[in-house]
Amino acid sequence: MKKILFLVSLLISASTTWAEQVVIQTKNTTMVLDVEGDKQPQYVYYGTRLSDYDLQNLQKPRSGRMDAYPAYGMNCPAEAAIAIRHADGNMSTVLGSDYVDEIEGKGNNREYRIHLVDPVYPVTVDLCYRAVYDEDIIETWTEIKNGEKKPVTLTQFASCSLPIRRGNVWLSHFSGSWGNESNLTEEPILAGQKVIKNKDGARNSHTDHAEVMFSLDGKGRENSGDVIGAALCYSGNYQLKVETDDTEYHYFFAGINPDNSEYHLKKGETFATPKVAFSFSKCGLSGVSRNFHKWGRKYMLAHGNKERKILLNSWEGVYFDINQQGMDQMMGDIASMGGELFVMDDGWFGDKYPRKTDNCALGDWVVDKTKLPEGIEGLLRDAKKHGIKFGIWIEPEMTNSVSELYDAHPDWIIKAPKRDAVKGRGGTQLILDMSNPKVQDFVFSVVDNLMTKYPEIDYIKWDANMSIMNHGSQYLTMNDQSHLYIEYHRGLEKTCQRIRAKYPDLTIQACASGGGRANWGVLPYFDEFWESDNTDALQRIYMQWGTSYFFPAIAMACHISATPNHTVFRTTAMKYRIDVAMSGRLGMEIQPKNMTDEEKALCRNAIAEYKQIRPIVQFGDIYRLVSPYDKKGVASLMYVDEQKSKSVFFWWKTESFQNEHLPRVKMAGLDANKNYKVHELNRIDLKPMDVEGKTFSGAYLMNHGLEMPYRNEPEWSKKSDWSSRVLLLDAE
Ligand code: DGJ
Repeated sequence: MKKILFLVSLLISASTTWAEQVVIQTKNTTMVLDVEGDKQPQYVYYGTRLSDYDLQNLQKPRSGRMDAYPAYGMNCPAEAAIAIRHADGNMSTVLGSDYVDEIEGKGNNREYRIHLVDPVYPVTVDLCYRAVYDEDIIETWTEIKNGEKKPVTLTQFASCSLPIRRGNVWLSHFSGSWGNESNLTEEPILAGQKVIKNKDGARNSHTDHAEVMFSLDGKGRENSGDVIGAALCYSGNYQLKVETDDTEYHYFFAGINPDNSEYHLKKGETFATPKVAFSFSKCGLSGVSRNFHKWGRKYMLAHGNKERKILLNSWEGVYFDINQQGMDQMMGDIASMGGELFVMDDGWFGDKYPRKTDNCALGDWVVDKTKLPEGIEGLLRDAKKHGIKFGIWIEPEMTNSVSELYDAHPDWIIKAPKRDAVKGRGGTQLILDMSNPKVQDFVFSVVDNLMTKYPEIDYIKWDANMSIMNHGSQYLTMNDQSHLYIEYHRGLEKTCQRIRAKYPDLTIQACASGGGRANWGVLPYFDEFWESDNTDALQRIYMQWGTSYFFPAIAMACHISATPNHTVFRTTAMKYRIDVAMSGRLGMEIQPKNMTDEEKALCRNAIAEYKQIRPIVQFGDIYRLVSPYDKKGVASLMYVDEQKSKSVFFWWKTESFQNEHLPRVKMAGLDANKNYKVHELNRIDLKPMDVEGKTFSGAYLMNHGLEMPYRNEPEWSKKSDWSSRVLLLDAE
């Protein structure tokens, strides 16, 4: 580590009005901060990579408040990133630069810490930046330390703030709800404030997401245009805010939601905010997505470099109707279709209060012997017999008022003091207080006991079906009740860390009433997330599209399910359901014994074909081509492998009208000079497509594209309005 006060001062020409710069470089991007004297550091630049000349002659921003971390108190009308009530009650803070540390990381990765001090109060703030070089990501977070003799109170504690130059900037965010997660919402940023926040307490990605993109030159385009992406890596309540006033900038703030969460920082204690990852790309929204996917797979996601197994989950197939014979049958069926893993979902546990429906037994993680007389041992034996792996569902942060756990530990639940608890699912669900170390030990033991007793368990689906409804911790002091939301997630993270330290190889899915935990806060401990409880193929196209902005296909669990769909009651063709699920981490969620032989054959074939394209989908670069949100009657995207030698092209019709005009889709991301042979996967047409087996240059495919027949053409009785295509492109 070295202290750098004059990082690039040697490069600076005499005419430049400021002298010290912190230059954070990645392969294709640069962020510059001016750290002159004892003033607050100033943002000067974030965009494409600068040359030495550009750095020397960099223009100072024309107008705007460029403070890197605006503090509340001496310019009260402006939005602040941090607000502190000091021990003596003073509510103002001033932060000036003290020194900068530069820390070498792996490869070209570097970390910078700009150390800020208040000239009057001994509170210090480190602004931390880590350049993740090859992936064009800059991670930033803040560490606030209390050097005062008594506790200070943090009332605002954003992870970062970033000014973004005005000029037709558009925001993309991902609003939604249960069963309708991650809807792409695009809007111009106008004067005033745009606030996206979450207050669920336990999960955070149903109603919106902690990730946004800013398209800097008009409404975002997928494969061109300047875009900044920002992802807050946090699993709890968040707040993203864009303020636009009469200056030349929009001001972006991201961090933990401070609502009802003021934090008493003890003497000597450091409060580290979660990090925000930024990426800038000149290659449009998809360009930013590719950077996040690469960074996510390499640095964040558990086992981001390991192919995922193709699984059958029991939920939509049998719901709570678990029994030994039924599980054996499902395992046999998925094995016969080429699947590699079976996951037994909710309904397998409970002794005194057997879990027949959703109103009891969470916390009583013992096998219901009436349903499974041969226990987990019997299930593991059957999985082995069928040559597949076995996984199991748990919801370890939760209990029910009807459970042996609650009978023994009523003090472990989250509950407002002096009030009865508001209950959730089934009229009895309660949430355990993860701020309590005893609860953390218990949650750890849920996984530990299962894994110690049954080390062959390969996969855990970790569910979380309740929000924090009642503000109140029976563990925290009355003075620190406002720490509940933050301590919950610290407790969850500590527990996950213990689990990962002991079980590094276990596959764990983050599920939370569907897609409530699609965030980069939990994913370092989880291999994937359940995208949504809504498995309807058409609506999944929309949800998976939005989710793909920040999360790679390898993390997105996408399952083929029955029709009419159990959530929206739509009936789509089996091929269509297959083709949609194959664009993510493929699985099934269906009762195979109710499938026709023909449907089983289609799935068997799809699973075999998915095994061929799995590395391309799971590790490839995404190029989104036609958005379902543009309502052109079709949606399309493709994945291209690193060498640009193999690609998979997905094309789904999103509506069906006679003689409607559908666009011809131009491809992207291929090598213009390579020639690609086309082969259709999951074919159901009687005749091959006219392009089958033919070779086209990458240039032709990208400049012109291929015409897709409007419909699939199987025999007459099997025709359907749900057409889709999956093409494998193989470079010769
Ligand atoms: C909610 C999940 O999202 C579903 O997939 C399923 O696991 C149920 N919980 C089980 O109760």
